Amino acid sequence: MRNFLETGRLTLRPFQAGDLDALVGLDSDPAVMAFLTGGKATPREVYEERLPGMMAGRGRLDCWIWAAIEKASGDFVGWFSLRPDPARGPDEAELGYRLRRAVWGRGYATEGAALMVEKAFTDFGLERVFALTMSVNLASRRVMDKVGLTYLRTFFDDWPEVIAGAEHGDVEYALTRADWRRREIAQRTGR
Ligand SMILES: CC(C)(COP(=O)(O)OP(=O)(O)OC[C@H]1O[C@@H](n2cnc3c(N)ncnc32)[C@H](O)[C@@H]1OP(=O)(O)O)[C@@H](O)C(=O)NCCC(=O)NCCS
Repeated sequence: MRNFLETGRLTLRPFQAGDLDALVGLDSDPAVMAFLTGGKATPREVYEERLPGMMAGRGRLDCWIWAAIEKASGDFVGWFSLRPDPARGPDEAELGYRLRRAVWGRGYATEGAALMVEKAFTDFGLERVFALTMSVNLASRRVMDKVGLTYLRTFFDDWPEVIAGAEHGDVEYALTRADWRRREIAQRTGR
């Protein structure tokens, strides 16, 4: 049950084959996809191909992406991830999140992302969590800030398709285990 997590208002569980419709539905909202594809939906075939990988382990994590279920309603509201990147080595993972527009603004992203960070540095034994987003994705950047990641750099990648806001580049935020520990101790001791 190590891969079943919960926050106050959300259950985070591994993805299942039956989640295909929910994933396709989530990505069919242009507002959700605005800073990812410029608003374009992800075709169903893409998730048919991707879902098995979402249900499998990656790097040192035997679960790396969790479906978020709202406890009060039992509804699928999106997902949270800690995605290892082979290029960066086994000690790091990329924090990600995507939620249905209907639940934005309730603090769910912050709640789930905070748990990802905590698990990363406790149960999962990672040394560094980073997160990437478009510079102009202010809601996502605010969530990164609120869970303790700090701004590291702005960069410009050659994306195959240029979307609105891309001229401002992408940003990386990060938090190391050492800084997380220091902050935890400071919070506990009030110093
Ligand atoms: C990013 C996302 C997950 C945020 O979800 P959420 O549940 O609304 O987030 P929270 O309620 O926990 O917190 C959002 C914070 O951003 C702030 N915010 C929201 N929109 C904002 C904007 N346009 N400008 C500045 N701040 C903004 C909120 O006020 C809140 O901060 P606060 O608590 O200090 O007021 C959600 O918008 C989403 O799924 N977007 C589409 C997918 C996406 O872009 N994912 C990230 C890609 S890397």
